[in-house]
Amino acid sequence: MLKKGTRCTICKSKNLKDKAVVFLPHHRLALCKEHFINWFENRVEKTIKEFKMFSKEDKILVAVSGGKDSLSLWNALIKLGYQADGLYIDLGIGEYSKDSKEISLSFGERIRRKLHIVTLEKEIGTIPQINSSANKPACSACGSVKRYYMNKKAKELGYSTIVTGHNLDDEVAVLFGNTLSWDIDYLKRQYPVLKEENGFIKKVKPLCKTTEKESALYAVFSNIEYIEYECPFSQGASSIRYKEIWSQIEQQSPGSKLRFYLGFLKKVYPLLNQENQDTKAIKQCILCKEPSFNDICGICKLKQKLHKAPAKL
Ligand code: AMP
Ligand code: FES
Ligand code: ZN
Ligand code: ZN
Repeated sequence: MLKKGTRCTICKSKNLKDKAVVFLPHHRLALCKEHFINWFENRVEKTIKEFKMFSKEDKILVAVSGGKDSLSLWNALIKLGYQADGLYIDLGIGEYSKDSKEISLSFGERIRRKLHIVTLEKEIGTIPQINSSANKPACSACGSVKRYYMNKKAKELGYSTIVTGHNLDDEVAVLFGNTLSWDIDYLKRQYPVLKEENGFIKKVKPLCKTTEKESALYAVFSNIEYIEYECPFSQGASSIRYKEIWSQIEQQSPGSKLRFYLGFLKKVYPLLNQENQDTKAIKQCILCKEPSFNDICGICKLKQKLHKAPAKL
């Protein structure tokens, strides 16, 4: 909690008088609005460099959902001088998609960058349609569909890298879930940089060391409008329960999330990816030519289920 009258740590060191508006317990920092914005952008820049994500010469594509994370990230990247355009996937989830598309479009106009749009209704079917015909939970089908179109469109549009707004809370929740079930195949791929290989474009997560709360504060201080309500299908998702558990752990022991996540990256991830470990072979889907573990990829199978299969092989 920020005590009334606390001065900004940085302003204090420069003999300035600004009052802090944010307290970051795990970094032991109290910051004014201006220094928080600087701190957030520096942290994004350092993460990009630490994990060799991309450079100012690369043409990168930010996957924009209209939420606080992806819009804050896009804004920070532009301010830092990166060549970043946006990609919005219209999932066709009623008001939620309508509002988030409008917000994303007007933000693209504000920063004068191109926002590409993929409309699932035209490509495969909306998430509510998929939900009523597939026997998977909507969120899991939605995750696969989003990953597929991000990869496909970024390649078609000639970008080198796809950038997502996954934050520390997201990564910790996923890591926790994968650890509870010891899902080695997923754990092996949980890294903030996935290199380009076998038809997959390079994918990076520059917010992996900043929290959801920090993105929200950055958005508010930068006057970024974002969609404040969750997707209606997310209710009851296990990741939300894990986030609640982790917020209690973090409150009692600030820095736990970051220690858990960075500990995994440093100590466990390399063990899982030693050269002699088996990895599933990647093929090419015989229908769409995208990477797949089977002859026909999950999305083409889904398309067939929705009666929108390509006419011939
Ligand atoms: P989520 O899976 O909703 O937590 O979102 C994680 C990240 O995926 C976001 O920060 C975005 O970068 C990206 N993303 C989510 N939904 C969309 C969407 N509809 N269109 C484009 N990117 C998205
Ligand atoms: Fe995909 Fe909710 S955003 S199901
Ligand atoms: Zn300050
Ligand atoms: Zn396919």
